Amino acid sequence: MNNKVAVITGGNRGLGKDTVLSLAKKQIDSVFTYRSHKQEADEVVKHAAKLGAKAVAIQLDLSDILGFTEFSTQLQHVLHSHWQQPQFNYLINNAGFGLDNSFMDTTESQFDSLMTVHVKGPFFLTQTLAPHIADGGRIVNVSSGLTRFTLPGKAAYATMKGAVEVMTKYLAKELAHRNIAVNVVAPGAIATDFGGGSVRDNHAINNRISSITAMGRVGEPADIGAMIAQLLGDENRWMTGQRLEVSGGMLL
Ligand SMILES: NC(=O)c1ccc[n+]([C@@H]2O[C@H](COP(=O)([O-])OP(=O)(O)OC[C@H]3O[C@@H](n4cnc5c(N)ncnc54)[C@H](OP(=O)(O)O)[C@@H]3O)[C@@H](O)[C@H]2O)c1
Repeated sequence: MNNKVAVITGGNRGLGKDTVLSLAKKQIDSVFTYRSHKQEADEVVKHAAKLGAKAVAIQLDLSDILGFTEFSTQLQHVLHSHWQQPQFNYLINNAGFGLDNSFMDTTESQFDSLMTVHVKGPFFLTQTLAPHIADGGRIVNVSSGLTRFTLPGKAAYATMKGAVEVMTKYLAKELAHRNIAVNVVAPGAIATDFGGGSVRDNHAINNRISSITAMGRVGEPADIGAMIAQLLGDENRWMTGQRLEVSGGMLL
């Protein structure tokens, strides 16, 4: 029998990369997307192979909504050639970018770019791919701790993640008849390239976040990827429409 297959957006680095590799450790294969960093994507494919799982990378820009049909066709091709099947099991809407500005200074173009990648992209990508998710499969959307607590400069970004959380509930309701569970994972601040790598590289920011986090440090990608891999375990089949915060107790 084939391994299960996950489709993960933004799998070449950060949380998406760790999710591909955490799934690989559980012998779950992946088709993951990258936007511009092909070399990083190729390294992730090799790393997954070393862990005994298959991974295939496909280029995707989430702001190119019209390109989703072509992406779906490419995905079908890949599923047939690598797994001899038309469907996959898990969709993880992870890709995204950070943008800091106050509510008063946020421009329409900043708002629109965040909206396109964080809301419109996952909404229509999921709509395009849902027919190809096997019944009994799962969807995980990636949100942020910033929907529960507020930090300066995050108004527009957090607004988008709020929409992702509402979308999750509606998807959970509409896909339940196919036994597809849909949940949202909300990470706290994680040391990745996100937002220019400030959580990882800026000592003042890193110390400040550590001081407001119950577990006394910022998150690492492995804190999230492993959790998503565990969330996709068969044992969790009865949980749907839920928001799971994974922040080490940030601003409890
Ligand atoms: N890091 C945090 O503190 C944190 C906290 C809470 C939530 N999150 C959320 O977690 C998710 C992953 O963040 P991360 O920390 O892993 O960020 P990251 O290290 O900066 O990685 C971002 C990933 O998203 C891809 N991406 C960016 N813009 C894209 C677009 N327009 N179309 C398609 N792919 C695009 C990137 O591809 P390329 O590299 O090829 O450009 C990359 O693979 C995001 O949704 C983010 O909002 C992050």
